[in-house]
Amino acid sequence: MTKIVNSWNDFDPLKHVIVGRADNSVIPPEEPASSEKVPVDSEMRGMWGPRPLESVEKANEQLDNYAKILEQHGVKVDRPTPLQWNQHIKTPDFSIDSGMTQMPPRDILLTIGNEIISSANAFRSRYFEYLAYWPLMNQYFDEDPEFLWTQAPRPRLTDKSYKHNYYDESISIEERLERTANLDFVTTEVEPMWDAADVMRMGKDLFIQHGLTTNRKAMEWFKRYYPDLRVHSVNFPGDPYPIHIDATFVPLRPGLIINNPNRKLPQEQRKIFESNDWEIVDAAEPAHTEPPPLCYSSVWLSMNCLVIDHKTVAVEASEVHQMEQMDKLGMNVIPVPLRDAYAFGGGMHCATADVYREGGCEDYFSNQIADPTLV
Ligand code: ALA
Repeated sequence: MTKIVNSWNDFDPLKHVIVGRADNSVIPPEEPASSEKVPVDSEMRGMWGPRPLESVEKANEQLDNYAKILEQHGVKVDRPTPLQWNQHIKTPDFSIDSGMTQMPPRDILLTIGNEIISSANAFRSRYFEYLAYWPLMNQYFDEDPEFLWTQAPRPRLTDKSYKHNYYDESISIEERLERTANLDFVTTEVEPMWDAADVMRMGKDLFIQHGLTTNRKAMEWFKRYYPDLRVHSVNFPGDPYPIHIDATFVPLRPGLIINNPNRKLPQEQRKIFESNDWEIVDAAEPAHTEPPPLCYSSVWLSMNCLVIDHKTVAVEASEVHQMEQMDKLGMNVIPVPLRDAYAFGGGMHCATADVYREGGCEDYFSNQIADPTLV
């Protein structure tokens, strides 16, 4: 019997992965979910349309090279099938002028054990992004009799799914930070909405970031869908644009996590880690002071690494400080140039989605304390 899909965490030995592609990528028009996400001083504001061909080619070159490096380290690599994203999208509930990309598979695909779930993204432009992975899912389904091919409940994304007039040009960073701390986000709670990159998988525990792309109702959905897992809601008050946990809180191996020093997990929420002998270390400073052009993400993609096994990690090749820190933490570092792909939706971890890692569903948090994060 062929076993293709299995992954319970982000650090056990990686054997099979999906690496994104930049083809046909579009900067989507502004929509209720995204107006909050694009930093106020970003050159991306108000800009949309197909990404420049030259930038697509450069990104693809690096993504292809990344795939090759992973293969050299014994990891099988699959690639999505690009769609033409420069098409109008219409459902009975909303319409928008374009889709986006198939570059960050991590936002769309969540692998838990023998199951891959396509997420319930809050972005209208990302509504059909899962289609780029459909051929792979169909293939895994044919080949692996235990593979569970799942689609999370599709959100309707009507105007009721968002707070309106939430975004205002004049809102200061301090006010944004206050909103993050108060769990006041642009999404409402009328339906579960989540990006797969907000979910940190740790065997029996799922740590999910409550932020601009994942709401509380999604966590309730996870709790009911996986009654045998423990679902934790975490948030990082230092992040004015809290989307995706993987440039904020990144596990390297059992017992060790790096945390963005500007977005620290609050003391109260650290207890579950500390009482189970996990060490939380401040991540190294990024090597760059600015993200590359036309990039949504912050310079903290520096810590968005891909762990290959408990001793090996792939880090973006220009991130000298992060590489040095990994080395000090006892990891062998594989440097991979990927900065030209950042603008398409993220770094080393974002650009991939797990298909197979060795290992099973371990309990890393058996010392159950009174846990304020538990949903
Ligand atoms: N939220 C992540 C960042 O730091 C992706 O940009």
